Amino acid sequence: MKEVLVIYYSQTGQLLDILNNITSNFDGEEVRITLHKITPEKDFEFPWTQERFYDAFPESFQQIPTELMSPEDDVMAKKYDLVILGYQVWYLSPSIPINSFLKSDPAKVLLKDTPVITVVACRNMWIMAQEKVKMLLRDLNANLVGHIALVDRHVNNISVITIMHWAFGGKKTKMWGIFPKPGVSDRDIAGARRFSSPINESIGSGDFSDLQEKLLQIGAVDVNPYLIATDIRGNLVFSKWAELISKKGKSDRLKRKKWLVLFKFYLLFAIWVIAPIVYIIYLITYLPSIGKIKRQKKYYSSVELRNI
Ligand SMILES: Cc1cc2nc3c(=O)[nH]c(=O)nc-3n(C[C@H](O)[C@H](O)[C@H](O)COP(=O)(O)O)c2cc1C
Repeated sequence: MKEVLVIYYSQTGQLLDILNNITSNFDGEEVRITLHKITPEKDFEFPWTQERFYDAFPESFQQIPTELMSPEDDVMAKKYDLVILGYQVWYLSPSIPINSFLKSDPAKVLLKDTPVITVVACRNMWIMAQEKVKMLLRDLNANLVGHIALVDRHVNNISVITIMHWAFGGKKTKMWGIFPKPGVSDRDIAGARRFSSPINESIGSGDFSDLQEKLLQIGAVDVNPYLIATDIRGNLVFSKWAELISKKGKSDRLKRKKWLVLFKFYLLFAIWVIAPIVYIIYLITYLPSIGKIKRQKKYYSSVELRNI
């Protein structure tokens, strides 16, 4: 019997639906699935208020862990043939619960020398978050063998509006009858079933060496080159903001609250003014950059980690 551990965090249930579909065709006679939901001791309330949403920024971006509930004894008792890690992005980084798990003692035991498939479901900016996850997995001596990325396929600025409607209103519904549904589409969530067979085959053979190639052939990852540039620049600017805001103290400090309001306005400015300018520059420089773009697409679709 092969043992598979599915580890995830999800406020809305979107990731759990995706993970259930990805594991739907696993051979029930040969593969046993154990589920572990990461639970912070003080969980993040959903839906968010604006204040809590922006307040999560410094700790998300600086990857500061929070306390988690310990996994059940049953989860810790087995040695796994494969771990599937489902995560979401908060502020261009793995979300606080996921980052906290990857820095925890149980993760050191569960992931050491174990093949891992990462499944990210987010708005659309996951490239640098995945690099951070790759580094955390390397530190755990885990073996990243597969990556699947599911995103909101609508235009960047539309997905910003609709995700806010979802995050603050709590419902994954169309907004005002004109904006589309936020997040990963129902079609893409259902379509995640196609990843089940190649993963099941690798579990059976114990050979994960060509799994990512097989996953890529069926559209597991679609790297948007414009978003690579935005993500890299965003990380540079966020590092300055996070440093500045974290110096103002904990969440209850008035100084920190004031700076978070400024950060909120900066974010709106970046999304509505800077991002479109970056897009125009991207279009103008597209042809001369085509070689670099190809190399970047190949690397970010892979499970390799460049030494950085
Ligand atoms: C505080 C916060 C920050 C987020 N930042 C990003 C981001 O930087 N990039 C992105 O693609 N999605 C971002 N998202 C969207 C999430 O990755 C995720 O898709 C969404 O919150 C669905 O929640 P769930 O996966 O917990 O069910 C953010 C969401 C929250 C709540």
